[in-house]
Amino acid sequence: MNRNHAFWGVVPAAGVGKRMGADIPKQYLPVLGKPVLQHTLERLLSVEALSAVVVALGKEDGFWPDLPFANHPRILVADGGKERADSVLSALNRLEGIAKADDWVLVHDAARLCITRADVLKLINILEHDPVGGILALPSSDTLKGVSDGIIVDTVNRNHVWRALTPQMFRYGALKEALTTAAELGLTVTDEASALELKGQTPRIVEGRPDNIKITRPEDLALAAFYLEQQCCE
Ligand code: CTP
Ligand code: MG
Repeated sequence: MNRNHAFWGVVPAAGVGKRMGADIPKQYLPVLGKPVLQHTLERLLSVEALSAVVVALGKEDGFWPDLPFANHPRILVADGGKERADSVLSALNRLEGIAKADDWVLVHDAARLCITRADVLKLINILEHDPVGGILALPSSDTLKGVSDGIIVDTVNRNHVWRALTPQMFRYGALKEALTTAAELGLTVTDEASALELKGQTPRIVEGRPDNIKITRPEDLALAAFYLEQQCCE
């Protein structure tokens, strides 16, 4: 398809998986016989629109060479950083001189292995003519409570609260600038949209699928295996 701007994937995969509590980083735990990160990258690579995917890896990562991506023509690697945002910024720097300022970058957590090609294409199709970009997200189905010291202080209007998923899709130049500013100000941003919001930008919401879970705790592994198997039958 003829498009004005290129699309790049960025996958932060340099976390240690503290909440998982396994003896290896969660992105390398097996699900249906394959490491989490391998599932994630195979899903992203199935999207032809992505020119390449930059994977940010931990400095001590000895598992990556065992994955079948070492000489892959559409995979690049970068060093990860202390926080997720540092890893993303490092991956964006790897694209310096390769990506153009107005190109799109889709940042996707390594730990979200159930991402579907359909959801990535939905995000691209809805946002590719948007000036800012946006994210996959889900409305909350639970009632949400504001809590302080174990006491409910208020009930949040559910209609106004969405859960931020990934991919998050923004322009290369704007995203790099927003993350750089957040880092300089010492502000911790847990997703890309927050960095753009700090710049006064207004990212859009695209409703994603509920099976796009992030592997966080041990019980998530069985759920991810279940979703992957279900998706095969779609
Ligand atoms: N990540 C990263 N660099 C970091 C921290 C996180 O690239 N310094 C990545 C993780 O590998 C993961 C994604 O960002 O794919 C989302 O982060 P999270 O789910 O919090 O993973 P971890 O930080 O590894 O887990 P935990 O917070 O439980 O330690
Ligand atoms: Mg973390």
